[in-house]
Amino acid sequence: MEILEAGQGTYQLQDYQKERETFDWKQVEKAFSWSETGKVNIAYETIDRHVNEGRGDKKALLYSDKNREESYTFSELKEKTDQAAHMYRNLGISKGDRVFIFMPRSPELYVALLGAVKVGAVVGPLFEAFMQDAVKARLEDSEASMIVTTPDLVSRIPHEDLPHLKTILISGDSDKTGSSEKFVSMDEKLAEADTDDSAIEWVDLEDGFILHYTSGSTGKPKGVYHVHKAMLQHYQTGKWVLDLREDDVYWCTADPGWVTGTSYGIFGPWLNGVTNVVRGGRFSPDDWYGTIDKYNVTVWYSAPTAFRMLMAAPQETLKNHDLSSLRHILSVGEPLNPEVVRWGWDVFNLRIHDTWWMTETGAMLICNYPSEPIKPGSMGKPIPGVDASIVDDHGNELPPGEMGNLAIKTGWPAQMRKIWNNEPKFNEYFAIEGWYVSGDTAYRDEDGYFWFQGRNDDVIMTAGERVGPFEIESKLVEHEAVAEAGVIGKPDEIRGHIIKAFIALREGYEESDELKEQIQKFIKSELAAHAVPREIEFKDKLPKTRSGKIMRRVLKAWELDEPTGDLSTMDDN
Ligand code: WT7
Repeated sequence: MEILEAGQGTYQLQDYQKERETFDWKQVEKAFSWSETGKVNIAYETIDRHVNEGRGDKKALLYSDKNREESYTFSELKEKTDQAAHMYRNLGISKGDRVFIFMPRSPELYVALLGAVKVGAVVGPLFEAFMQDAVKARLEDSEASMIVTTPDLVSRIPHEDLPHLKTILISGDSDKTGSSEKFVSMDEKLAEADTDDSAIEWVDLEDGFILHYTSGSTGKPKGVYHVHKAMLQHYQTGKWVLDLREDDVYWCTADPGWVTGTSYGIFGPWLNGVTNVVRGGRFSPDDWYGTIDKYNVTVWYSAPTAFRMLMAAPQETLKNHDLSSLRHILSVGEPLNPEVVRWGWDVFNLRIHDTWWMTETGAMLICNYPSEPIKPGSMGKPIPGVDASIVDDHGNELPPGEMGNLAIKTGWPAQMRKIWNNEPKFNEYFAIEGWYVSGDTAYRDEDGYFWFQGRNDDVIMTAGERVGPFEIESKLVEHEAVAEAGVIGKPDEIRGHIIKAFIALREGYEESDELKEQIQKFIKSELAAHAVPREIEFKDKLPKTRSGKIMRRVLKAWELDEPTGDLSTMDDN
């Protein structure tokens, strides 16, 4: 078997085996100011602590997009987030209130998010590509009282249908402000707010700070609720896995609309006090290599889809940039193909380190480490302080080599504490006593490395984003031509999977390419661009159970030309 040996350097996690035997999460608490008071705030530890410990002049944020290029020190971010916190207070926001952040990546987003956490609010980041229905579902479920947004996105907020939503705070010039008492200018309210430093609301370790909506195979999107205590793991994995050091320039390419973009786009790096790069705008290979070159990025956390797109880009794109600053590269979100690891080794002379975790787990759990050998194709081994295993449906642990449910012993610091308003859903994850069951299938080898095999539900990972088939199917059947719809992931070289929809049309509608495009546009304008089925296939009828549930398993088998398996529950009318 092919193995990439560890480098010879000195790393934050030097002796994996020893840490596994001796590490205790209690040790990490000493890094934080609250080990004495017991009162915490993750935003304080992320920004203010560095100022109070004399690192205020250090660059915290290096931001750029097509039109802007800015940098902020920890002191500057402290002042701005304090001001935002006072603004939220003035607008009546207090501990536990849900404040949504619906903005493109920009310094204002980071200030809005951390300012809200400072006053004890629970922030709900929303990806900027979400359209009206997706926005509405999340605001409704969370009963958010405020959303912070920009003039370009504000029209997607159906404020009249959302009685709990009191304030729509618009960052930047907008003709909406003042048109209803809900629309408020953020710039104006910020100007009125103090900047003194009494902004922090001290809370308990078990109080919530973030609600990330994510998809399952059935039902509405789920609000995954995380508490301040998660900082222990954001901080510690920032050391062990990201291998962050004092003078690193770190770049996580994920958007804060997804958990990677908060846990490791905000908290992991800043809890460790490193300089964090944020690049606004869309992906392009030239731009990405340019970003590494311009800022001399040393540690880079990205996703297989992005690496595959870089692989497919013309060689010149790579040659035009100096990428020699890179020291450590990591990946998350989907299986990292051995082929991509080999490419990384060829072009950067570095190993790409795969990491496994989920929105629900809040932070990294199974990882590859700079000081350990990498087996390309494997997700690596559990972090110290966490036990992972492969279990059968009754909770029996399976021996090496046998496939089963990837499960984690409950009780790690960043574990979700609830699914918002949905206790039954939450409990489903913990149906096997003592274990969190991930929904992924995997096996463990003799050396303790975990190998991902697939999802055992119908969740689709496309281009690193997680989409639930149900939300798309529900939207599809709202289209006038669509009688029934079933949605699956179809394997794709670059994106991992693409979304494919099988559609049965209503009477009176004829299949055509125009109709396909029309349906795609409909999803794009009402749900989100990343939820659009790239492929649509029309069928006379779809396979259903007798209770009327679309059998996605059969659709998948059709797609892959595989046997359809047991059809005893299928309705054959
Ligand atoms: C699902 C979770 C929080 C990370 C971003 C995705 C898949 C995640 C890997 C990996 C193979 C992976 C799993 C998981 N996944 N990392 N290293 N190898 N698959 O978070 O949107 O909550 O999705 O992503 O299927 O269950 P998410």
